[in-house]
Amino acid sequence: MAWFESVAQAQRRARRTLPRSVYRAILAGAERGQTYRDNLAAFAELGFAPHVAGAPATRSQATSVMGVELELPVLLSPTGVQAVHPEAERAVARAASARGTGMGLSAMASVAIEEIVPLCAKTFAQLYWAGSREAIAARVERARAAGAAGLIVTLDWTFSHARDWGSPTIPSQLDLRTLARFAPEVALRPVWLARWMRSGALPALTVPNVEGAPGFFAAYGEWMGTPPPSWEDLAWLRSLWDGPFMVKGVMRVDDARRVADDVGATALSVSNHGGNNLDGTPASIRALPAVVEAVGDRVEVLLDGGVRRGSDVVKALALGARAVMIGRPYLWGLAADGQAGVENVLDVLRTGIDSALLGLGRASIDELDGSDVLVPDGFHRRLG
Ligand SMILES: Cc1cc2nc3c(=O)[nH]c(=O)nc-3n(C[C@H](O)[C@H](O)[C@H](O)COP(=O)(O)O)c2cc1C
Repeated sequence: MAWFESVAQAQRRARRTLPRSVYRAILAGAERGQTYRDNLAAFAELGFAPHVAGAPATRSQATSVMGVELELPVLLSPTGVQAVHPEAERAVARAASARGTGMGLSAMASVAIEEIVPLCAKTFAQLYWAGSREAIAARVERARAAGAAGLIVTLDWTFSHARDWGSPTIPSQLDLRTLARFAPEVALRPVWLARWMRSGALPALTVPNVEGAPGFFAAYGEWMGTPPPSWEDLAWLRSLWDGPFMVKGVMRVDDARRVADDVGATALSVSNHGGNNLDGTPASIRALPAVVEAVGDRVEVLLDGGVRRGSDVVKALALGARAVMIGRPYLWGLAADGQAGVENVLDVLRTGIDSALLGLGRASIDELDGSDVLVPDGFHRRLG
């Protein structure tokens, strides 16, 4: 499959390759799509202040996040990738490993964590607050036994996305009736169908990292039925794990302080779930600087949401993020070309970061600061 030069191209390939329902499921968004669009629009409002001479001959983008060395400041955010590609999280793990970075393995992943960690040592196990304390403790123990590099606890889901453009039907299992219902859209996507036929399997909505759940909907139901955690619950969860611990989905300064001081997290991601949760939440990049200012001295702050090019990564780092996380871009790469497609997306970001550093005259990502970016008046949002 041919190389693609931008994430936008990967997205077009994904749209051409995936059955319509699968493509729409990963495009996602919520309600009127305000947050989803703002995540992208906000990056386009930021500009650069480039130099023309005096730039160093080589530039470094290596860093570390939560004690793990990364060759580029981009981590793969946890996503459920069922049905996108038969290799699913295996392809994502191999690509992350090949490009010297790490991944979050979704609680709703389609492959067991014991299979993923050997493919990518820098795997962070993602958890939701779902089920009893005993069930949650058992998942933490399982992540430890599997050798996860850290935990990511995602706290920003709101259980309803009620999209104005409608949501695709997601079958609970693939029986003959379901196959017949999806046959017309699958027939239009022969590459996707051929991949699954070669794999000898059918897309299944299984969630092997949720003990005892027969499938995605049972796990989702358990999660929906669980009262949201208190700050004490989160401190308890933190006490079960002495390694790196990230809270994902923080947007407010007051929450960031509690994540740092009451929970004692190693890292947090400023994130709105890619615009899939509470619509009307501003773009995460707008909320980043206030969070960095409040807790950046004691917690690693990552930016998640809307990153589509290397220059977006550089903008986020210049505004104080230690690294970024990406979701849809690598899912589109996965849909386009499996492991190679995910590697291609990481290569697009790496070369984009390098050329932005060149333009800015910076020898390394550590030198980036606020003077590198033009921030229009009224850009920032300080929440809480
Ligand atoms: C299809 C899809 C599935 C996702 N599944 C999860 C998940 O299981 N756990 C989680 O913490 N975040 C999940 N997310 C959110 C991503 O981790 C990430 O926050 C988001 O995609 C970042 O925005 P971006 O897609 O603009 O990069 C999902 C996002 C998408 C698009």
